[in-house]
Amino acid sequence: MNVITPKFPQMLHGGDYDPEQWLGYPDVLENDITLMKQAHINCVSLGIFAWSRLEPEEGCFDFGWLDDIIDRLWKAGIYVDLATPSGARPHWLADKYPEVLRVWEDGSRAMFGGRHNHCFTSLVYREKVRIIDTELAERYSSHPAVIMWHISNEFSGDCRCPMCREAFREFLKKKYGSLDRLNHEWWAHFWSHTYTSWEQIEPPSYKGETAVHGLDLDWKRFVTHQTVDFMKAEIAAVKSAAPEIPVTANFMGMYFDGLDYFELGEALDVISWDSYPEWHAPCGNEVIAMNESLSHDMMRSIKGKPFLLMECTPSTTNWRGISKLKKPGMHRLAILNAIAHGSDSAMYFQIRQSRGSAEKFHSAVISHTGTSDTRTFREVTEVGEMLEKLTGRIYGSSTPAEAAIIYEPQSKWALDKAQGPRNAGLNYFDAIQRCYHYFWANGINVDIVNENSDISRYKLVVLPMLYLWRDGFSDRLREFVKNGGTLISTVFSGIVGENDLCFLGEATEEKLSDVMGYWVEETDSLYDGEANSTVYSGREFELTELCEVLRPTTCEVLAVYGSDFYKGKPAVTANRFGSGMAYHVAANAPMEFFDVFIGDVAPQLKRALDTGIPAGVNVTLRQGGDGTDYIFVQNFLDTEQTVALGGDYTDILSGRSCSGEVTLEGCGAAVLVKE
Ligand code: GLA
Ligand code: ZN
Repeated sequence: MNVITPKFPQMLHGGDYDPEQWLGYPDVLENDITLMKQAHINCVSLGIFAWSRLEPEEGCFDFGWLDDIIDRLWKAGIYVDLATPSGARPHWLADKYPEVLRVWEDGSRAMFGGRHNHCFTSLVYREKVRIIDTELAERYSSHPAVIMWHISNEFSGDCRCPMCREAFREFLKKKYGSLDRLNHEWWAHFWSHTYTSWEQIEPPSYKGETAVHGLDLDWKRFVTHQTVDFMKAEIAAVKSAAPEIPVTANFMGMYFDGLDYFELGEALDVISWDSYPEWHAPCGNEVIAMNESLSHDMMRSIKGKPFLLMECTPSTTNWRGISKLKKPGMHRLAILNAIAHGSDSAMYFQIRQSRGSAEKFHSAVISHTGTSDTRTFREVTEVGEMLEKLTGRIYGSSTPAEAAIIYEPQSKWALDKAQGPRNAGLNYFDAIQRCYHYFWANGINVDIVNENSDISRYKLVVLPMLYLWRDGFSDRLREFVKNGGTLISTVFSGIVGENDLCFLGEATEEKLSDVMGYWVEETDSLYDGEANSTVYSGREFELTELCEVLRPTTCEVLAVYGSDFYKGKPAVTANRFGSGMAYHVAANAPMEFFDVFIGDVAPQLKRALDTGIPAGVNVTLRQGGDGTDYIFVQNFLDTEQTVALGGDYTDILSGRSCSGEVTLEGCGAAVLVKE
């Protein structure tokens, strides 16, 4: 069993609670705790933005209010995920030490304001953070209520101050050793941009250098490196008092690509993330649900164990153009979907709705009315009851997967900058989603891992548009296929190496040509609305955006282009290598194509159910430590759906027996077990 929080090994229900905004309202605080109990809340994240209340003046601390609130929560049986407050600083800190404020891309320094915008190199900031973190750790680590540290909040962004620029140069010196090497890896002799001293190196900027792609890529790597370094310093501070208390940092999911979360994950005990899908958007909940499930799967795969849903809204956000309410039942369904994909919690932003400033209209468990008599409160309470029912069986269970999709943030960074055949959009996330749908729609668990992960444990590995291959990756792919694995790659994969230099040669091992059985001669780009086509398995599919013209060597051709001067040339290939198979789809193919194609070529993979699953319904499998299979079924349509089960099950949510099938109302869900 994977225990996330040993002091309280149960599914967590709660979220961000900001009593520091309400210190002048003792009745509100009292009432909040009563209502939290009523809503079956068992854990709150405390102090995330409380620095100015904890240290109102430099070196003068006021922990009285926090002592009091933690004690009261504890008496009520509510645990605490205690935050370090580095996400937003007090005025005095910026006023006295302006170096803590970020410098923007244009070279100007930010004024005080906002949040998530400190310099991550400043020694002053690091020292002030260390002091407050250590004070918190020494005071609260041994408190029975404190079960986890919440490091800062949603790390993001970069700073270009002189200290950060110097740290960047040090990072590069360590990486390349010499300017000769750097000039080569960055291809800097191009346009005479050769660097002749380290001091000439500046972060990429619209005012300066944007043409050296290696610079851009290394800057993004440096930003992740420096963020991790900052985070590690915070972790060391909180662990100094009690190393056994786990640490997490709330991520923003797969579609935030400002940081390489795989690297951050290595420094953390627990992965957690803040999920705000746009339910009820015009594209339909089944599309939103699939994209959201993909992000959950990535968060789970970072550590290969359960994660925490650290934030989601109890109903509506306040930061979208249009912020819709979650319709009745949606909240429960979204939470079950998160759990189905590996979450061991349902946590919210926010417990008590803020009264003023930027987030006063963001929904909360307890709204401005301060009552339990709201639809949102009732739905949150139902989720709390549901988690209590599930915890004994689901908490700590695994989400076993025999297939993986490679998502490599560093490849996305390079791809976004590629200045290649289609600057109008290469749509990397779309490329991943089109492959992911097959797994989502067929009840097959899939991991979302990066290039550094151990792929030998899978039967099937899919590389959608995997442009950049980090050192050693092609060798691992070769081993994987040689040993019997099935590999599927799609257009514009394996184009550049670790530092964004194109692979040289036609059919080379570096490019995996021996495994794939072809090489790419040229790549055509199509206008939006323009399409080529292919016939595969008796059906015609449109091919759009990018079409590679392949030169087959040993591969078999499974389908060909239907038009243009490359009509009749391979669009889909297969190559046997060792005991495995390598497939390639040479153009941008639609989801419907991958639904058929992956189904044809994938080896036998474990399915949550062996029956057909209706469109719009997602089925996943979590496995208890005793080997029990828990089958999560979520209906994202508004209409009733019946799912064939091929056996008799019990729905542990409702207690009903499901003989041969389960019928779910619109927005309904079930957790099935064979009993
Ligand atoms: C983020 C932050 C929270 C809050 C919510 C609002 O996830 O971490 O502090 O601002 O957004 O949706
Ligand atoms: Zn800086």
